[in-house]
Amino acid sequence: MSNRLPVDRVVDDSGEASWRQSPGGLVTALEPVMRASGGAWVGWVGQPDLEIEPFDENGIRIIPVPLSDSDLELYYEGFSNDTLWPLYHDVIAQPGYHRVWWERYAVVNRRFAEAAAAVSEPGATVWVQDYQLQLVPAMLRELRPDLLIGFFNHIPFPAYGIFSQLPWRTQIIEGLLGADVVGFQRVADAGNFSRAVRRLRGYPTRTPYIEVPGMGDQPARRVIAKAFPISIDVAGFEELAARPEVQERARQIRHDLGDPATVMLGVDRLDYTKGITHRLKAYGELLAEGRLSVEDVTLVQIATPSRERVESYRQLRDEIELTVGRINGDYGTISHQAISYLHHGFPREEMAAMYLAADVLLVTALRDGMNLVAKEYVAARADEDGVLILSEFTGASDELRAALLINPHDIDGVKDAIVRAIEMPRHDRRKRMRSLRKRVAENDVSHWSNSFLTTLRESRGTQTPFGGGAPFDEGEWTIERAPRP
Ligand code: ADP
Ligand code: G6P
Repeated sequence: MSNRLPVDRVVDDSGEASWRQSPGGLVTALEPVMRASGGAWVGWVGQPDLEIEPFDENGIRIIPVPLSDSDLELYYEGFSNDTLWPLYHDVIAQPGYHRVWWERYAVVNRRFAEAAAAVSEPGATVWVQDYQLQLVPAMLRELRPDLLIGFFNHIPFPAYGIFSQLPWRTQIIEGLLGADVVGFQRVADAGNFSRAVRRLRGYPTRTPYIEVPGMGDQPARRVIAKAFPISIDVAGFEELAARPEVQERARQIRHDLGDPATVMLGVDRLDYTKGITHRLKAYGELLAEGRLSVEDVTLVQIATPSRERVESYRQLRDEIELTVGRINGDYGTISHQAISYLHHGFPREEMAAMYLAADVLLVTALRDGMNLVAKEYVAARADEDGVLILSEFTGASDELRAALLINPHDIDGVKDAIVRAIEMPRHDRRKRMRSLRKRVAENDVSHWSNSFLTTLRESRGTQTPFGGGAPFDEGEWTIERAPRP
């Protein structure tokens, strides 16, 4: 279950309704997993006040959970995307802390928990996804103690110094501890979570275990908190990129751009975590200094519409579009645009063609749980060409060490990396891309889901030393005194 279903219901100008793939990395990763599993997907259909019966879509059973307009405002745009999202991405934007948002978050989480409880077979496995549903694991356990419950956080989990700002930090921790396994993108995220558990609840931890003591009629339990770096359907993406019509489309894209020597590409949801303004600043300065010229280089920036009713996203869109207009006005010519800016979604085939057309992919995120765009670019490049510039603040940078790693806050460093990428000799590009492709091939999305689900299955029945199970060596465990209430 996830806040957003893999398909969104869209209504066109003539009032005709249709389904379209939802944006974001969560859906990209989970769609192939769900198609193979034969399970049901519980989530919201992407439009307010829509009561829809369960249906089948592309081999997946869909169980819609309705959200009203005010749920969207308070639970989704408010608490999920204006409190948790900026807080978990290291407060790049200021989170809002509003009690009415929090109260509705809890109400909607209960609705999701009840929807999952109603459709799950006895002893079923329920895998809860992402930060919008952090209270669901404990709520679901209360309703259905027979279920095996996993949780995966697709975004970072912040250090305790930041997390502790949240007025409802203890409730969030208790919500997540309802799961048998809590998964994170990076080892650091899992460590931050365990530390928050120790600080707020005083429960003993020994990586990857957390001992939750028994309370009332709830027995003591051992929860696993561990990193499972997510990935993409590598073979599926490779197959897409190998299609002759996709390769032809890539050639056509380059031709339509005026066949420049270098095509650079950015693909991001229009989100302040993605560092799009930092990238534009670096590129604009390179053009201003004459280190790059629009005769030779062009940047294609895809900025996918996202969360358009949240004020910080509106402001960001204005800022980006102003900057793009300025750079094009200052440096573009009749025949050569500095930036080709696209603010809409594309079919997967078109995305693959864009990756094939791009000599350089720019990923300059200020903080990103994983960044699947980086992995898609690598998967598409069976020709072992193309240079990946990758922010060290992405989860992907843990694995993709052969990229040109950058600190996006260091504008001079970003500029140097762009020039280095453009000038990189073919044999260096091949060496790096080969190494990147090896890493991406090792860990595709089925490996990710299998290793999570195997850990989840094996977690059932583990003994807890504090509940009177296996012998317990106190020295190996870390216990911190919880703060006074
Ligand atoms: P996030 O989850 O924060 O959006 P990721 O990079 O992990 O970031 O995942 C983004 C996913 O959305 C990728 O699979 C990418 O191909 C897809 N995507 C991004 N922009 C578009 C677009 N304009 N059209 C279609 N797919 C897109
Ligand atoms: C990220 C989040 C997902 C979210 C997606 C799109 O990938 O991790 O949970 O679904 O962005 O954002 P949206 O708010 O449109 O669902």
